[in-house]
Amino acid sequence: MHTRILIIGACGQIGSELTAKLREIYGTDNVVASDIRKGDQDVFKSGPFEVLDAMNFDAVAAVVEKYEIEEVYLMAALLSATAEKNPAFAWDLNMNSLFHVLNLAKENKIKKVFWPSSIAVFGPTTPRDNTPQYTVMEPSTVYGISKQTGERWCEYYFNKYGVDVRSIRYPGLISWKTLPGGGTTDYAVDIYYKAVEENKYTCFLSENTALPMMYMDDAIKATIGIMQAPEEQIKIRSSYNLSAMSFTPREIAASIEKVQPGFTIDYVPDFRQSIADSWPASIDDQKAREDWGWKHDFDLESMTKEMLENLKK
Ligand code: SER
Repeated sequence: MHTRILIIGACGQIGSELTAKLREIYGTDNVVASDIRKGDQDVFKSGPFEVLDAMNFDAVAAVVEKYEIEEVYLMAALLSATAEKNPAFAWDLNMNSLFHVLNLAKENKIKKVFWPSSIAVFGPTTPRDNTPQYTVMEPSTVYGISKQTGERWCEYYFNKYGVDVRSIRYPGLISWKTLPGGGTTDYAVDIYYKAVEENKYTCFLSENTALPMMYMDDAIKATIGIMQAPEEQIKIRSSYNLSAMSFTPREIAASIEKVQPGFTIDYVPDFRQSIADSWPASIDDQKAREDWGWKHDFDLESMTKEMLENLKK
């Protein structure tokens, strides 16, 4: 396989693991990593890397041309909690970067685009349990509004210009390799770090706040899975619901306590509580399973085992 790939936002929580996996599959030299700055991650030591501002169309176009890029994974974005603190910048970054990549695809400069959406596209009027693919969507966060709008544009570019864009509504993502950057679901990563360091955790969400979650290995599998699926299998060009597990802070704490006796948790909800309260508790992802064969591997118990084992090393 000689597909040439560009990852924008390669130093982030998803980008860093996605880069490593894509390099394994497509060969290091075929996978160009880029980010607004060099982090200290492997991504820029392990293969081609460009410092790239996703909001600068000419700069993105130049990198695409230089490496003869065919597929772009656009992972740069401001997440929910950070976006609430800087709404104008979040809107600019999340929307303009998407337009730049969609327009390059419209001009046939790239062949395929991956763009991540989120459970944040749903809002307080959405049915919370087993949220369907098609339902009421009235997001109340800046991040959610940008993802909802982005979905409409992805579908529009597919319908009007035949742009092969593919998207997933990620739930909260959990990994031990790279920290998340400013989301509402970040507590579910933080809790494992604090469990290993202090055997206790203070949670910024209340104990019974259920949210859809996923282990990073599954998220990477889904991302590459939807991109490799034959074009005709991708029947939804806005974004697919995607699900693996759903739990509350109390339940994740209990799963840690089983492996690590004596672990304790207390709850001091902050502004992120109202964001979490506006999101689904669980997701119906039947369409992804039917259309392109999505299947998750990790549940809460197996994820807790992996997280604690690896963080202790
Ligand atoms: N994990 C993200 C967030 O909390 C949701 O897409 O912002």
